Formats: sequence, C-alpha cells, structure tokens
Amino acid sequence: MNACPVQFDPLAPEQLADPYPVYSQLRADRPVFHDAEHDLWIVSRYEDVMIVVREPETYSSENAVRASTQPWPRPVLDTLARGWPLSPTLTDSDGDVHRRLRLLVSRAFTPKRIADMEDTIRRAVDELIDAFVSDGCADIIERFAWPLPMMAITAILGVPREDVPRLHRWSYNWLRLMQATDPVGELVACAEDVVAMQRYFMDALEQRAGGEGTDLMSGLLGAGVAGSEALTMIEAMRVPMNLIIAGHVTVTRAIGNGLVTLLSASDQLAAVQQDPERIPTMVEEILRFESPAQGLFRTVRTDTTLAGVHIPAGARVMVHWASGNRDENVFERADVFDVTRNSANAHLAFGKGSHACLGAPLARLQLKVAIPRLFERLPRLQVAAGEASAVRDTIFFARGFKKLAMEWDVPVAAART
Ligand code: HEM
Repeated sequence: MNACPVQFDPLAPEQLADPYPVYSQLRADRPVFHDAEHDLWIVSRYEDVMIVVREPETYSSENAVRASTQPWPRPVLDTLARGWPLSPTLTDSDGDVHRRLRLLVSRAFTPKRIADMEDTIRRAVDELIDAFVSDGCADIIERFAWPLPMMAITAILGVPREDVPRLHRWSYNWLRLMQATDPVGELVACAEDVVAMQRYFMDALEQRAGGEGTDLMSGLLGAGVAGSEALTMIEAMRVPMNLIIAGHVTVTRAIGNGLVTLLSASDQLAAVQQDPERIPTMVEEILRFESPAQGLFRTVRTDTTLAGVHIPAGARVMVHWASGNRDENVFERADVFDVTRNSANAHLAFGKGSHACLGAPLARLQLKVAIPRLFERLPRLQVAAGEASAVRDTIFFARGFKKLAMEWDVPVAAART
C-alpha cells in the first residue's frame, strides 16, 4: 500500500486553524481513516456518517463525548468516585435505555417551552450588549457568546442567574476532562468541578421534590409515561448536566464562528442585512460551514466494514459532522459560504438519527436573535487588529474561539434602540 498521504492531527495548530483541506483529502483518499496516534477511526464522507448513525447496534454511543481513548488516570477516577456515575445520559446511551431517557426528557423539554423563550432571549441579548456597547471593544466570547446560552438554559432549568459563572466553569472543565489532553493535576481539578456540578444539581432537585414547580427540573421529577418508569433522582440529576454541556459550548462556538464567517464574506453579510428573511438560512449555513460539534464518538460493538475498510470490535469511531457538511457529493460548492443555500434538513451539524440534537430549536432561536442584533447594535463591527484578537480553542471536537476581541463605532446614543 502507498504511504498515507493524509496528515491528520486534530491538535496541530495548523489543522485547528483550518481543518477543511485535511477533511477534503480524507474524503477523497481515506474516507475511513485510522488516526493511529489517537487510535480514532475518522469517518469523513456524508454517506458513511449516515450509515454510522443509522446502525446504533454496531456503532454504540457509549462514551459518545469522550475524545480520549486512554482510561483516565487513577487520581481522576478516585476524584470522580466521590460523585455519582456519569452515565448513562441521553448522549451516551443506546437502545431501550436511550429511548426511555429521550421520551422522559423530551416531555420536559417541549417545543412550546422553547418557543416561550423568545422574549427572554431577546432581553438577555440586549442586556448583555448594553453592558459593553459604549466601550467600543470587547472580547465577544467572554462578554456575550458564553453568557447568552447559559442564561437561556438556566432560565429553562429554573436556577439562579448568579450561578451562571460557576456553571460555565464546571461545564467547560467537563469538556476538558473529555478531551483529556491536560496534565493529570489539571484533569483532577476538572473532575472535582464535575463532582461539584453533580452535587449542585442533586441539591436543586431535592429542593423541588414533592413541590409543584413548573421549571424543567421540576418536570423531570414527574411520573413516568407510556409504560416508562419515572426518572430516578440520579438520572434526573444527569439531565441538566447533559443539557448545559450539550447546549452551552456549542452555541458559544456557533456565535463566534458565525461572526467571523460573516465578516470574512461581506457580500453575504450585506445580503442578510438587506433581506432579513434570509436570517434562518444564514443560521443553517453558519452551522453547516463551521460546525461547532465537528464530530462525536462511537464505539464499535462487533467487527464491521465501512467503505471497504475493516474496523475491529472495540474501535473508537469519530463520526465527522463537519467533514460531511463539506461533502461535494451532497452540497454543491461545499466550501463556499452561501446564505441563500437552504440545507436545514440536510446538514449534519445537529447530528442525525436517534441521537439528533434535542436542543436544535433552542440553538436556532438564540442564533437567529443574537447574530443579527450584534451587527445591528454594534456599527462597523469587526475583529480587532492583531494576531492575539482571535484565539481558537484547542478542544478539537468543539470548533470555535476561546477569545474574540472585536471593535465597533460607539453609537451616539449607546443605548437600546
Ligand atoms: C449550535 C448549537 C448546537 C449544536 C451544533 C449541537 C449539536 C449536537 C449534535 C451533533 C448532537 C448529536 C450527538 C450524537 O449523535 O452523538 C446533539 C445532541 C444533543 N444536543 Fe445539541 N447541539 C446544539 C445545541 C444544543 C442545545 C441548545 C441543547 C439544549 C439545551 C442541546 C441538547 C442536546 C442533547 C440533550 C443531545 C442528546 C440527544 C440524544 O442523544 O438523544 N443541544 N447536539
């Protein structure tokens, strides 16, 4: 066999900066590629991604968010043992366990509950912008892109606004634990935060038990439905953790990615500003073009073959939403950002199949409100000069910016219009 022409290293700075040429090579030359260094099998073509998500019996969701193939070091396991088992959650369960959890959680996480959030989200967007509009510059990730989704989720859960900063820190450290590339001491600190988060939600649920609250956590403590037993306290505690982790960093990343993408395609930004009807397709295109969840993980249950490649039982597969979203066989001119493209039903940014994103309507609502409002209230918004202004995060399966220093002209009346 010829030496492999593909240099795939998800942690390499050049790949973090622009992974798309490597994905394109993978799709063309090695659609199922074994990354020996991380012992991950990368599935990069759209059609193969669809096979993986449609065959959960072969491709299990166990450890779906765990990037590392190594077991956690003993001190990390000892720390986690002070809390409750992390699984099963919606994201990392299969079959009947997953079906039951999804049924019970969907009941509390209804489309109506999300639609009712629109005013809260609009107010939160303006409140956040009010706090920095007169400064003329800000790190938009720090001041806007992470607080907004946290404010939305905590409003749904019914937890106090003042807890947002620690919930943000805990959930980000949970992701670092999943990537597991930090030194052991730091991973132990991340594990301590995960246990603190478990305790926090256990307490919050205990306070609601037997009450008549209407927030999502109270709803989780309700009766079972359609022959499914109600959630236990531990199962219910994992739901807000799962929602915060799944629905926080992803939206943060999408806001940063969306701003930078629109600014580097000024004709597309102008097209949306001239015709706000294009906002929904703009949101879908941002998600397709720069998918915040680049890929998630599956564990192969039995020896299998995909695109002619043998994958052994026990292998860890990275099902690559972001590469599938650039597949020319599905999306014409896939590397072009085009706000008139309507790929809402086709793109993979929210996953597909039985695990498809439960929070997609909430994510779409936030992006649809937040991105246009930032451009509206911050005239001539642009990324600040200097290399240190836009810094990418190194969590490779969650693509986006850790810091995004931006500047704008301070409006004469720097107040809400
Ligand atoms: C732009 C923002 C978002 C993106 C790109 C995104 C992406 C995804 C993807 C790719 C999956 C599939 C996981 C898999 O197949 O292994 C997923 C699942 C999930 N997402 Fe999202 N998500 C976003 C926002 C949200 C929000 C706001 C919430 C809730 C607050 C949320 C909650 C969930 C949950 C609970 C699941 C697990 C569903 C299941 O396994 O049955 N997500 N998301």
